[in-house]
Amino acid sequence: MRGRFITLEGGEGAGKSSNLEHIYRRLSSAGRDVLQTREPGGTPLGETLRGLLLDRGQSAMADDTELLLMFAARAQHLAELIRPALARGQWVLCDRFTDATYAYQGGGRGIDNERIRLLEQWVQRELRPDLTLLLDLPVEQGLQRAGERSAPDRFEQEQAAFFQRVRSAYRERARLEPERFRIIDASQPLAAVQAQIDAVLDEYLAETA
Ligand SMILES: Nc1ncnc2c1ncn2[C@@H]1O[C@H](COP(=O)(O)OP(=O)(O)OP(=O)(O)O)[C@@H](O)[C@H]1O
Ligand SMILES: [Mg+2]
Repeated sequence: MRGRFITLEGGEGAGKSSNLEHIYRRLSSAGRDVLQTREPGGTPLGETLRGLLLDRGQSAMADDTELLLMFAARAQHLAELIRPALARGQWVLCDRFTDATYAYQGGGRGIDNERIRLLEQWVQRELRPDLTLLLDLPVEQGLQRAGERSAPDRFEQEQAAFFQRVRSAYRERARLEPERFRIIDASQPLAAVQAQIDAVLDEYLAETA
């Protein structure tokens, strides 16, 4: 049986990477064979493209170039890692996926959603995540967390208005697809965030058992 495809989404500093290991362990201890990965990246070529996408030195990058590089990395990720894993019956847990493209390149950069949908259809065909956890929190709080963690990358140097558009776009996607999305209040302390995540995973595991 095909595995499940679970994605973790949210703005800068929302806690995606911090909660990935927790989710991995929860699913593994429930007996699922889980593969943990991230976007952009997840393959050697994808990680090279990630380096370009996050590099502050790439200040001349046009919005369409950014969009196409994201989908180039995704095409490789799907071909090399995600599709084979799902076909083997593994559950794939991915830190960001195409919702991030709608949020950042769509909401943030202002690229028309229709163009993104075209590329999504081309690269993914029928494949969509089965479950998406959206870690949602006020923009300022996320930026503060991210700022304390590391120097800003090419996205993190954007203005607050950019991240407000990213957050709005994410929330709008969750509103339009309530079956797939679960919104997690990521403004809370880590233990409380993990308790919300556990509740979602337990319900999902029961549903899919
Ligand atoms: N619930 C929380 N309360 C307080 N601090 C947190 C919480 N979750 C994560 N952090 C801290 O905030 C910082 C950012 O978290 P993390 O790197 O997991 O976010 P992210 O969503 O992966 O960000 P990015 O989009 O930049 O990859 C880290 O230093 C982490 O330790
Ligand atoms: Mg992260």
